[in-house]
Amino acid sequence: MKFLFGNLKFSKASVQTKFYLFFLLYFIVSALVVTAVKRQDFKTCEQSSFCKRNRAYADRLTANHSLISPYSVIQDSIIIKDGIISGDLINSENNLIFIFELHLLEIGAARVRINEKNPLKPRYDKAKDWALVQDPSYTLEYTLISSKPDVTSLSFGKERKQAVSIYHSPFRVEFLVNDVPIITLNDRGFLNIEHLRKQVAPGLVDQSNGENDKIIDDENDLDKGLWKETFNGKEDSKPNGPESIGLDISFPGFSHVYGIPEHASSLSLKETRGGDDSYSDPYRLYNLDVFEYEVDNPMALYGSIPFMMAHRKGASAAVLWLNAAETWIDITKNKEDKHRLSSLLGFGKLTPTSTSAHWISESGVIDVFAFLGPTTSDIFYQYGLLTGFTALPQSFAIAYHQCRWNYLNQEDVAEVDENFDKYDIPYDVIWLDIEHTDGKKYFTWDSVKFPTPEKMQNNIGIKGRKMVTIVDPHIKIDDNYYIYKEAKDLDIFVKEPDDRVYDGWCWPGSSSWVDFTNPSAQEWLIKKFAFDQYKGSTEYLFTWNDMNEPSVFNGPEITMPKDLIHHGGWEHRNLHNIYGVAYHSATSKGLINRSNPPRRPFVLSRAFFAGSQRYGAIWTGDNFAKWDHLAIATPMLLTIGISGLPFSGADVGGFFGNPDTELLVRWYQAGAFQPFFRAHAHIDTKRREPWLFGDPYTGYIRDIIRERYALLPLWYTLFHEASTTGMPIIRPMFTVYPEDEETYAMDDQFFVGNSLLVKPIVNEGQTSTEVYFPGNEIYYDYFTHKKVHGSGKVQIEAPINKIPVFLRGGSIVPKRQRIRRSSAAMRTDPFTLLIALNKYGNATGSLYLDDGETYDYEKGHFIHLQFKFSKRKLFSKPLSLLNNDENLYAQSISSVRVERIIVLGLDLKPKHIYADCIDGSKIKRELQFGLPTTNSANVVIIKGTDLLITEEWVIDFSY
Ligand code: NOJ
Repeated sequence: MKFLFGNLKFSKASVQTKFYLFFLLYFIVSALVVTAVKRQDFKTCEQSSFCKRNRAYADRLTANHSLISPYSVIQDSIIIKDGIISGDLINSENNLIFIFELHLLEIGAARVRINEKNPLKPRYDKAKDWALVQDPSYTLEYTLISSKPDVTSLSFGKERKQAVSIYHSPFRVEFLVNDVPIITLNDRGFLNIEHLRKQVAPGLVDQSNGENDKIIDDENDLDKGLWKETFNGKEDSKPNGPESIGLDISFPGFSHVYGIPEHASSLSLKETRGGDDSYSDPYRLYNLDVFEYEVDNPMALYGSIPFMMAHRKGASAAVLWLNAAETWIDITKNKEDKHRLSSLLGFGKLTPTSTSAHWISESGVIDVFAFLGPTTSDIFYQYGLLTGFTALPQSFAIAYHQCRWNYLNQEDVAEVDENFDKYDIPYDVIWLDIEHTDGKKYFTWDSVKFPTPEKMQNNIGIKGRKMVTIVDPHIKIDDNYYIYKEAKDLDIFVKEPDDRVYDGWCWPGSSSWVDFTNPSAQEWLIKKFAFDQYKGSTEYLFTWNDMNEPSVFNGPEITMPKDLIHHGGWEHRNLHNIYGVAYHSATSKGLINRSNPPRRPFVLSRAFFAGSQRYGAIWTGDNFAKWDHLAIATPMLLTIGISGLPFSGADVGGFFGNPDTELLVRWYQAGAFQPFFRAHAHIDTKRREPWLFGDPYTGYIRDIIRERYALLPLWYTLFHEASTTGMPIIRPMFTVYPEDEETYAMDDQFFVGNSLLVKPIVNEGQTSTEVYFPGNEIYYDYFTHKKVHGSGKVQIEAPINKIPVFLRGGSIVPKRQRIRRSSAAMRTDPFTLLIALNKYGNATGSLYLDDGETYDYEKGHFIHLQFKFSKRKLFSKPLSLLNNDENLYAQSISSVRVERIIVLGLDLKPKHIYADCIDGSKIKRELQFGLPTTNSANVVIIKGTDLLITEEWVIDFSY
């Protein structure tokens, strides 16, 4: 048997040797060339034939204004029934017929599907099975406004404020809210569906569908790669020929669009076809393991969410391009046309910018969701209803994680664990990378380094801590490895086109990949996490899914060849971007199922797609210990968060390289305000556990990790909010101040929930920074409680021991100030309420609590407190489904108090403060308080109250 690697051919006998040679070379080269992404490993649009063809198609129409889209609705074909408008389209260039359907959905969105009417064989249409919670229901609340020969229009939604017009010739769809167009499809005429066809010899006419098609010309640049494509010496056999789809989706009147992670790029997306500071390539969505990725680049990274949101004053809109194949997105902003919008939007003579995205996917069907808002929070909710809200994690998962490639052995793990206690730094989870296994065989342990894994886990488990081990999707080809043997016997591996099991290279050497799109593979993997199957695992052990793009070291673009075959005979090209989520989903279900009653899972994944939020967290992969990588983490995480996947983080410290102490401290400060907070480092880096730097640096790191623990009640409350409303956890400025245009492209500061304004310091030597304080609101320094003087842009001191964090006036932040070794150890500790009054003397906030482990909260065993400060009175009102006698969680914390209340910004000093329980169970009593003079006189601190967290009470500051 021969193995192809680049241009070399190896016999099976020599594969092992060559493999190690390959890795040796790989590491030597990686070590020498340490600073740049290998661009040549990854395609540009020009090197991807379908991208190039669709760009050329768009250019032809743009250059010649007399050309229009050849797609139009066939007269009298439109049928409107039960919330679905359907009809036939014809492409006048080749007379091919397509069917389109427009679904009006209950969730305040609409869906447009276009497919070939009589395809040579079915086109891939299963991305929806992975991304959507279920097929969305249609609304019956609609009214036909007009049905003319050239346009069909309907209004829909309860108040009929949303409308859609389908223009017949050329085919164009326009969505309107309150009579203003907000999303248009095929406005620029880039709709292009390459129909499936039979291959014809060069120079002949393709008449596979009975129509006249163009002559295939091998000399023509654009016809190259229709039936075969080679990149870096690796051939894609493309047996189905060209099958791409393209469509322009415009947001009229919107200058800013966001989303389509994952790219190391800005929050507000840049233009890609000319314009200020534009990229030359489109943004690419193709899950890839990009070694040492570059910042400010539209290259594809590990995950893909084909979701784009547009926002302007008064309106937000979004689309989901539901396709799992390689996808490119060109963005253009048009400042000149759309004159009609000026008057509609009330812009007078000013013509607003419109932004247009040209979506191009290699295969599949057109399946587009249009979310009509009108606010950003409406869109987050609509998108969440469709693709699922983020799963509420176990509470430990949002605390601090300590990882490195690799903790060497059990002694090392024990020592690291003890040092956290010794240096008084809390942490919840210690991670083991690939070296913990027996020869990179996942679900096994290196018996020399980790002889007693259960004991090791129990030792940390009794301190309330957890462990995570890595379980990658590549499976070492070794008949003595039970996982390989079982998968082989079940015949669930991804195959070559000739039906042989695919054999590629990854950490263990020659490996095969289980096809997780196969239901039998899902079922099988789920069982592998049972305690009696995964030997050495305990209830304290959780999982890390890495390399699941999938990463294949000798594959084209370091991933799987596109012509490999999956369950149902589908080529890999169709579903590449869902391989990772399919794996993540089975792993997470495996962790749920291993306990009875079930426990919430924790699985970190590197690859992701729309819907991944239902399975766990993701991180931004292999970043660098450099300042620009620290800086880019903020826009990357904000983008991922608004695209429905809020549980995300970036490796603290930077994965590659050795951060100096200043960079590391700044990285911890930023990481403490990211939803997933994990330090991680490459195997070649120096050890960098927090205590290794000595004071004052260790102290600075300790302080900020402890601050994360103090704020865990706020974070958990925000995770709960995300899990029920889709609201991101860290929020771009424009989502909190949607009317303030100054915030639309701001991505170096953000809000945690709506209450904390955070601006990480991301430049070397920087000790002050300009912070933008929006909303003409009062802000208070989070650490000193002092009022910020001024609004708008204010210069703020940021010495090395301080990250600029501010409380927004009007918020109540729940905290716990007795910091212990792990979050579990703080479970029954009392609370502090930090109240930042706004200029009217009001504030609101909430606190969500449950057991942080099980699914009992779904049955009502939780506490959700609403706090309100108004007219010098603070109210706490528990909102619960169950009363306290039935609520097991409430009972378990029945003696937990609010021990401290800090009020900032009270206009008059109180002389007395009284507390009252609403149910009258305790008599009204006076509370002791202090008015610290070190600060401004408007701080009131009440200590040692007997107010219980489970009771309804009021505190009166008006005496
Ligand atoms: C690549 C991952 O991105 C990195 O975090 C991990 O340490 C290595 N694989 C080794 O497993």
